Amino acid sequence: MKHLLSLFELTPSETETLLDLSAELKTEWKQRTLKQTLPGRVLLQIYEKPSLRTRVSFESAMIHLGGAGMFMTEKEAGLRGRESLQDVAQVTSRFADVIVLRTFSQQLIEEFAAASSVPVINGLSDDFHPCQALTDLLTMREHCGDLKGKTLVYLGDGNNVAKSLAICCADVGVNFVLSSPKGYQIEPEFWDRLKQRNSKASFKTEADPKKAVAKADVVYTDVWASMGQEEEAAARRKIFAPYQINAELIAACPKSVKFMHCLPAKRGEEVTDEIMDGERSIVFDQAENRMHIARGVFAWLLDSNN
Ligand code: CP
Ligand code: NVA
Repeated sequence: MKHLLSLFELTPSETETLLDLSAELKTEWKQRTLKQTLPGRVLLQIYEKPSLRTRVSFESAMIHLGGAGMFMTEKEAGLRGRESLQDVAQVTSRFADVIVLRTFSQQLIEEFAAASSVPVINGLSDDFHPCQALTDLLTMREHCGDLKGKTLVYLGDGNNVAKSLAICCADVGVNFVLSSPKGYQIEPEFWDRLKQRNSKASFKTEADPKKAVAKADVVYTDVWASMGQEEEAAARRKIFAPYQINAELIAACPKSVKFMHCLPAKRGEEVTDEIMDGERSIVFDQAENRMHIARGVFAWLLDSNN
């Protein structure tokens, strides 16, 4: 049974396949020639954190392919204590053909997937956001061309989005540079695991944001306090202030640089309005691509499991 839980479980060539398949389906969708290849299939989404893009893009994608989507909060589904997680997974996977989970704990998603008889997709956990990273590399390819040897610089928190991006960049030959304050970097064990999986992975850390962006094809940021870290937000605003993407930082980048953000953004914190709405920004193309990747992921998972 194939699942999409972190990107670590894919091979680099599977990542490339997913990007190519999503791009093909995007072209068909734009040309209005997309075939409804999943008629009667049911998507079930269970979330314990809020979402706009992930929830709606997965549901739209399933409808475009001829299927339908259902949504439950974690409380309604009883993921935590009404019955065992394994029982919830076994029951829901009798009703649905594919399940998307958004949780705090990555382990919960992995345990659910182990008991599920249908593919499970991670729609974000505290540790990973794989569909976001696939989306980001598809968007970068559309705007920057061939990805091999290009450089993506991520400024800010070494969080779920940063980690999935690092894996995806390694798979497609993009140099990944992380610029984070001390204490908010990605842990060394993660880099060891990435290097073991993909010996060609190119990543480095550079704490000085202006030095970090000197060769950037893309500068990328995310919120400084993720969902679940709301109480740390005020302290983080001070610590992360030097990592804001603003006109001064963009002036230190190559002229062709593009700006990306997974959204939702806290305008005025990690990025200024001027950059979000400016000519470098490709954030809304990026948001749209969540739906195109969702279709590719459904087509790939449901096909590879049949
Ligand atoms: N980027 C993203 O996952 O957005 P949502 O939290 O709105 O789903
Ligand atoms: N790092 C953010 C991403 C939101 C899409 C969070 O986990 O809240």
